[in-house]
Amino acid sequence: LDNFQRDESGELTVDGCPVTELTEKFGTPEYVFSESAFRARAGEFRDAFSQAFEEHGAEVSVYYAGKSFLSTAVAHWAHEEGLNLDTASGGELAVAMRAGVPGEKIALHGNNKSVAEIRRALDYGVGRIVADSIPEVQLIAQIATEMGKIAPVMLRVTPGVHASTHDFIATAHEDQKFGQSMAAGTARLAGVSAEELESLELREDDAYATVAVALALRAESIDLRGLHCHIGSQIFEAEGFSKAAEKVLGYMQELNRRFEVELPEIDLGGGYGIGYIEGEQPRAAADVATELADSVSKTCANLGMEIPHLSFEPGRSISGPSGITLYTVGTIKNVAIEDEHGETRVRRYVSVDGGMSDNARPVLYDADYTAVLANRAPAGEQVLSRVVGKHCESGDIVVRYTYLPEDLKAGDILAVPATGAYCYALSSNYNMLTRPPVVATKAQQEPRLMIRGETEEDLLARDQGLL
Ligand code: LLP
Repeated sequence: LDNFQRDESGELTVDGCPVTELTEKFGTPEYVFSESAFRARAGEFRDAFSQAFEEHGAEVSVYYAGKSFLSTAVAHWAHEEGLNLDTASGGELAVAMRAGVPGEKIALHGNNKSVAEIRRALDYGVGRIVADSIPEVQLIAQIATEMGKIAPVMLRVTPGVHASTHDFIATAHEDQKFGQSMAAGTARLAGVSAEELESLELREDDAYATVAVALALRAESIDLRGLHCHIGSQIFEAEGFSKAAEKVLGYMQELNRRFEVELPEIDLGGGYGIGYIEGEQPRAAADVATELADSVSKTCANLGMEIPHLSFEPGRSISGPSGITLYTVGTIKNVAIEDEHGETRVRRYVSVDGGMSDNARPVLYDADYTAVLANRAPAGEQVLSRVVGKHCESGDIVVRYTYLPEDLKAGDILAVPATGAYCYALSSNYNMLTRPPVVATKAQQEPRLMIRGETEEDLLARDQGLL
């Protein structure tokens, strides 16, 4: 990315600001988040998807998935760039509200929304609540009735596509917690009584999702806006998205005919992969969007239906590459290892002042990252190294394999790229480490503190002392 470049001396800069200036002012570990990169990527997704579908006469909304990284400033930037905001909890919704994002631009997600979360969403007038299950449809209907409101609802379905990604972040196959199955024959397992099925004019061999749809259509306090699916995250091929779209569109047409409605919208979720290490080259948003728009348009033509309003929820692909993490190198030591030929070799372990508390992804998903020497040019011989954190777990690895200069020493600054998504968002206080600050950069501007780092007082603030 243009936002992360080396200056003449070889030092890494972010939006023109040398990293040593950032670390001197804000310390390490430090998340640095480029407003310029974020806005550029948000705009790229907005344009790629709207243009690709516009060619087929269809309208598109793009929601930024706030779960990947959210602050009031980020919510505001997404809004300014013309994106809607996808929130996954009352807390994320609170940030969006604080940022002044209008209700109709916000979606509320989650598979177990509390009464308070649903109330807050309805009270603020969110544009949609994505219901995950039959009980949620019932709960939303009940709360909306009590509040005298009409709840705009999308129903999350599982298209049964197994996305090629880590199991923990694949979400469209049947045996996982999200959404309702569109597969025939599941209605009898839906936990709804035979009388209720009958009163909804449903059969036992209908799909579980059809029960939810019938309930939503019957509820006067629900305006059913359409179907939602999300097949998983960090996915590179457009094929999985196209397949899911095909299944959901086919199912939506069945529903339209059967219930004599015209559900206006389909949301295909997020999940577009990004490059974390060299050689991992994601496809341009425009290419993915074009391929997807072509296949959606073909599917609709085959089904003889109009293309519905489409929406998308990219998170990582917008925020991920916009952020890096800066660490200070501490102890460096060599460990003898046996290589694949049975020869003894040396692996260099480089410890930094953060780790799994600021980036849990390696330990959670075996995620790969890379690290570069940031405070000076990485000249001379490069040595195979492993960058590890300071936590008391051997799994606390920041970068499993990377080449770093032989003359690396304590006090040097390392930058780990592509940490803008699901790093701050998943951070913890493990081992009583304080969460690092998030600093925002922008071309031609001084860096600004976006989220202040925690202090030891913060750590102790909720501890009630000797009891
Ligand atoms: N929409 C829904 C309904 C989702 O569940 C997610 C992600 C997204 C959109 C955004 O997906 P993205 O474009 O960011 O891939 N913590 C994991 C990722 C979990 C994804 C959760 N849902 C990780 O660090 O890889």
